Amino acid sequence: MGASAATAPRETSARIVIQAHEINHAYEASTGWSTALAHFNLEIPEGEFLCVLGPSGCGKSSFLRMLAGLMFPLEGSLLVHGEKIIGPGLDRAIVFQEAALFPWLTAAQNVGFGLEMAGWKKPQVRERVEHVLDIVGLSAAAGKFPYQLSGGMKHRVAIARAWAMTDAAVLLMDEPFSAIDAINRAGLQEHLVRTWLAEPRTVVYVTHDIEEAIYLADRIAIMTPSPGRVGAEIRIDLPRPRDRNSAAMAALKEEITAKMNEMERRA
Ligand SMILES: Nc1ncnc2c1ncn2[C@@H]1O[C@H](COP(=O)(O)OP(=O)(O)OP(=O)(O)O)[C@@H](O)[C@H]1O
Ligand SMILES: [Mg+2]
Repeated sequence: MGASAATAPRETSARIVIQAHEINHAYEASTGWSTALAHFNLEIPEGEFLCVLGPSGCGKSSFLRMLAGLMFPLEGSLLVHGEKIIGPGLDRAIVFQEAALFPWLTAAQNVGFGLEMAGWKKPQVRERVEHVLDIVGLSAAAGKFPYQLSGGMKHRVAIARAWAMTDAAVLLMDEPFSAIDAINRAGLQEHLVRTWLAEPRTVVYVTHDIEEAIYLADRIAIMTPSPGRVGAEIRIDLPRPRDRNSAAMAALKEEITAKMNEMERRA
């Protein structure tokens, strides 16, 4: 594990990687158009671990799908490194809710698959795969197939697969651990933080779990109920690894819960 035990909060003067400006989006339903995002604004600096927190249906996944280039805002602009997103790209890797591994490939082959597709030579792929599997603590499972791995291990392979892509400046995660039980989820969150500390990347992590957001994030963008926009931004300046039972975490949870309740009342 290359990560140091505790680190200072990130610098905030880093250059902006993602810029969402006045995004409006609606879906067409049988009953007419339904607005999903309205006046959504957000800027994300390089290297930040940003959590997008909000109630079900507020538009979190819609925003993430736009970042992934899988859909496009009807209005407003969405830029990555100053350029309009016109589709998926190797500069953005996605970790889905389901680990979505290839069942016929080993853990190592799953992690190396994207690199091979990107034209990496075999020795380089092997070296990179060994390195990221070590970071997520799965070196011993490199030769195992998905059916031989626990649910949590599969998710760690999925994290390693995204992290392996060195060209992916941005990692997009949509509630990747929401289907995992609480104890395993805490372990996966620790692995994720360790991975990020070992190889910092800009992360956009969608969740509706307040405690998860406080545990993971440098900053939390709290979305309003539908139609969603960023209603509040909260910086989490606690050193890592974080103590889930600390008074500081409890105070933040109270503050964020109050903010979300207030947004709910106003909606
Ligand atoms: N493909 C679609 N067609 C029609 N409506 C959609 C579609 N996708 C999302 N919506 C609607 O847009 C709104 C935002 O959905 P979205 O999935 O982005 O929310 P979310 O915040 O990710 O919710 P959850 O926390 O439940 O995953 C919801 O009202 C949803 O019903
Ligand atoms: Mg969603």
